Order: sequence, then structure tokens, then C-alpha cells
Amino acid sequence: MSGLTVLVTQPIHDEAVAAMRAAGAEVRCLNSPRPLDGAELASAGRGCHALVTLLTDTVDRQVLTGNPALRLVANVAVGYDNIDLAAAREAGVLVTNTPGVLTDATADLAMALLLGCARRLTEADRMVRDGDFPTWTLLQEPMGLDVTGRTLGIVGMGRIGAAVARRARHGFGMPIVYTSRREQPAEAAGLDARRVELEELLAEADFVSLHTPLSPDTHHLIDERALRLMKPTAVLINTGRGPLVDEAALARALAAGWIAGAGLDVFEFEPRVGPELLACRQRVVLAPHIGSATDSTRRRMSGLAAGSVIALARGEQPVNRVV
Ligand code: DGY
Repeated sequence: MSGLTVLVTQPIHDEAVAAMRAAGAEVRCLNSPRPLDGAELASAGRGCHALVTLLTDTVDRQVLTGNPALRLVANVAVGYDNIDLAAAREAGVLVTNTPGVLTDATADLAMALLLGCARRLTEADRMVRDGDFPTWTLLQEPMGLDVTGRTLGIVGMGRIGAAVARRARHGFGMPIVYTSRREQPAEAAGLDARRVELEELLAEADFVSLHTPLSPDTHHLIDERALRLMKPTAVLINTGRGPLVDEAALARALAAGWIAGAGLDVFEFEPRVGPELLACRQRVVLAPHIGSATDSTRRRMSGLAAGSVIALARGEQPVNRVV
């Protein structure tokens, strides 16, 4: 498609912008220092054929249906819950994401959170920095939880869930139970893993790791009832999306000891984190949505999104189509 005009909402890697320009696209980099809401994006993207958006931008109905020129939204993320897919379908706008390239980085972070919570690493770090390390004692704090041989529950056996399960199974000898909408997900092959219902997983697992996409069906999947089903010694890990968990209920669960800990890379009202959750420190590790944050991973994400635009410029079908 000649004369393709592209709006890039927030900063992405220079080489990705250069590749789109080399393919003949006119690329407007808004370089917004903050996410765009629907009205802002609809206005900034008026007349553009493609939008390169981040997961924090709101790509709603007004963005998708109010611009007859719009052909593509290339979201620089594997998740696409920021996009109104029904409106995209209606408007005939293609939507692409960036799967695969961030699987390992995100799985590594899920394991880091799991280990960090189990062995109370942030608490231990703080103790040493505060001079609170009088000497080694047999009964010393912070006392941790075992990981090796403990059961891991994977909620959502897709690419990332399976990558976490492989690390846990082959690296730490952890038996795996999982939930999946598919009966025999190929990703579970070789893991000796058992597919169960969510209730059973919650009751059985020592660590529960969330890898299911956010949708109206999975919003607050982990609510008070779910948290009460977990073992008091269990730890919840979330590297998926914040609203999968009812954060107020989680803060109550941690404060009251219904569960032992939580490792969170995503938050319900991101980037705001509620004071109740911040007050929970024992076996709680919090990170600012850095699952995919390694330099090479983020570059590859930019590159994949640029690749969607380049495909459109060349009149080809973009890969990684969601719609
Ligand atoms: C995604 O891609 O959806 C992650 O949340 C950020 O990499």
C-alpha cells in the first residue's frame, strides 16, 4: 500500500521506526510520555492507516470506527485487552500482537517472583542493607518455603504458562497441574502435567501462576472465594494482567494469612498500587510490569510490530493477527 501513514503513540526502538520508513511508510512518532486514552488516540490517529500502540493505550470503538482510513493496529505486546476487538472486526481493521519473542523473558520473571517470594529475597536484602544481620543462626529469619518438589499450578497453559512449567518441572522437579480451555494443549507435552479444574488446582498447588488472557470471563478470576480455596502455605504469582485478581481481596488474604505470599508484576489499577497491598511485605514481591523487560526482548517486540506495518505497506498479510 503506497503512501501509508503510521502513528506511533509512545516511544519504540529507533530501528523499528527506521524499518517502517525504509518500507515507504510516513511514520509520525508522537513520543507521548504517557498512555493515550480513546479520545486522544482517535484525534491523534485521524487519517492514519496504521497505529502502533502500547498495551497502555486505549484502542476503543471511537478509535477503530471513527477513522475510515484505518487498516491496522499493531500492538507492541502479546496481550491485547486494551483493544476493542469487536469494534475492530466491525470496522475491518486488522489487529496484530507480538507473541513468542517475550515468552522466555516473562517465564524467567515468573520464576524469579516465585523464588523471590519463597525465599523472601526482598526482605533478606532489606535486612542486610539495614544492618540487621547480627550473625548466622539456625532459627534465623527470614525463613523460607521449599520450592523443589512442590506442586505448581499453571492457570492457562499457553506459550508462557508452558515455559514456566518447563522451568519448574525440569529445573526444580515440581509436579505440574494446570487449567486450559483446550483438552490437550500441545504446550503441555513432555511435562507429565495434569489438567484439572480451577478449584482443584487452587486447593492442590503450593504455587499458583496466572497465564490466562484478560477478558470479561477472566476478570477477577482470583477473587475472595478462589483465594480462600488456596492453601495457607501457597503463593500466588501474577505476570499476566492485574485485573485477573481482585486486588482488595488479595490484600485481605495476605493480611489474614489465607495464603502465604504473592509475587506480582501486574496490578489491577496499574500503575497505581493500593496501600493495602503495599503494606503486605512478608513473602510479597512487587515489580512494575517488567515481565518482558530485557533489552533484546523489547527490541524484538518493536520489530514484530514494525513488521506488521511493513507487511501492510507491501500489500501482504501481517503475521500474528489477532483480528
Ligand atoms: C505483554 O506483552 O502483553 C506484556 O504484558 C508486556 O510485555
